[in-house]
Amino acid sequence: MPVTPVLTAHWKVPGIWTLETYAEHGGYSSVQAAFDLGPDAVIKMVKDSGLRGRGGAGFPTGMKWSFIPQGDGKPHYLVVNADEGEPGTCKDAPLMMTDPHSLIEGIIVASFAVRANHAFVYVRGELVHAARRLRNAVAEAYRAGYLGTNILGSGFNLDLVIHSGAGAYICGEETALLDSLEGRRGQPRLRPPFPATHGLYNSPTVINNVETIASVPFIVNNGVEWFRSMGTEKSPGPKIYSLSGHVTRPGQYEAPMGTTLRELLELAGGVRGGRALKAWTPGGSSTPMLTAEHLDVPLDFDGVAAAGSLLGTAALMIMDDTVDMVPIVRRLTQFYAHESCGKCTPCREGTPWLVQILSRMERGQGDPRDIDTLTDACDNIFGRAFCALADGAVSPIVSGIKHFPEEFAAAAKPRQQAPSSNGVAPGSTSALAGAH
Ligand SMILES: Cc1cc2nc3c(=O)[nH]c(=O)nc-3n(C[C@H](O)[C@H](O)[C@H](O)COP(=O)(O)O)c2cc1C
Ligand code: SF4
Repeated sequence: MPVTPVLTAHWKVPGIWTLETYAEHGGYSSVQAAFDLGPDAVIKMVKDSGLRGRGGAGFPTGMKWSFIPQGDGKPHYLVVNADEGEPGTCKDAPLMMTDPHSLIEGIIVASFAVRANHAFVYVRGELVHAARRLRNAVAEAYRAGYLGTNILGSGFNLDLVIHSGAGAYICGEETALLDSLEGRRGQPRLRPPFPATHGLYNSPTVINNVETIASVPFIVNNGVEWFRSMGTEKSPGPKIYSLSGHVTRPGQYEAPMGTTLRELLELAGGVRGGRALKAWTPGGSSTPMLTAEHLDVPLDFDGVAAAGSLLGTAALMIMDDTVDMVPIVRRLTQFYAHESCGKCTPCREGTPWLVQILSRMERGQGDPRDIDTLTDACDNIFGRAFCALADGAVSPIVSGIKHFPEEFAAAAKPRQQAPSSNGVAPGSTSALAGAH
């Protein structure tokens, strides 16, 4: 398997986050190239490259850009989604931390293409270190004339603002992000109208993920054929896969789209301690779990969909055979219940009920009807809530029951409670009493 460091090629270069070192490694060369091509040619190039959004849904980037109305006399905005809150996802933070100028370069080229003179990066609140580094890089780029007015004498103006969120997962959903950026409580907006026509401040807006935007300069510099030489026909290009959990060397592994988990595990030293793989998520905790049967599934948008899951953010959380599925699923469901923004009933009311049932099962107080109740509740949440957070919330439960029915069935049988050494039944909240 050819490993193609593209986005991560310079991550180990000392000081690559400074403009001086970045420029020594060819940095910012795509800006002049884009100016020479003109905005429409850049959009066409990105379209022809087949680049698909790296934020989860895999929407074709060039097509998204082409939805921005031209000559409408309204301001246009580019908003970069750096909220990265999906459990297991850890690619945008290191990209911004190590190579912030590569994102800024992509922002300049993308803004030029969609004729935006204002761009924003919405950074997850907890990523204080990455936001600080980005702000320093932005200041350097202004000083060098890559941002501000009349960039490189082209007549193109661009202001870039780094905005830190307050650590709410829902603010990664693009329309909730826009509300939050405008100073409101972050909750998803009704669509249509779509952000392409009515986005930030009711103006045409492109929202793209960090990795998507950082891929653009490489396409402008190296061309469509080069980009298409990596990956699969419908999902071309390189991808940063994040491996976490029970793996010998967790981290970010860049490889062509369509690489399999078996190949990635080889790079990452295998499952920890040589143990057996039990379950994994292909794209973060909101994507249905897969099992050892799926080691050879090509990890591109269509390959993973054909296996019954989603590529999502390519966040591969690896679970070995020591893991009990019911507690894992309960913990993930708890995350979504906590992060539900409360705007719609199925998600606001449904997710805490799911947690209650799973917690009861975990404590040994299950009921044989629990599996049916869980399945029915998930059916009534999936596709019936206001945004995709709720679909993600039921994924661990539905896929857990599908792949590990015997574990859920066992947990759904009431068990005798063995008192713990302090005489308190396991899972009882009264066990915490002595801690206060
Ligand atoms: C609950 C929720 C959280 C999301 N979080 C993120 C995120 O942190 N980063 C991101 O890029 N996209 C996130 N998305 C997807 C965005 O809504 C949007 O599709 C993406 O930013 C578009 O960029 P792309 O076309 O470059 O992939 C989230 C979606 C949902 C429903
Ligand atoms: S599905 Fe959940 S997160 Fe999305 S709008 Fe409804 S309550 Fe909010």
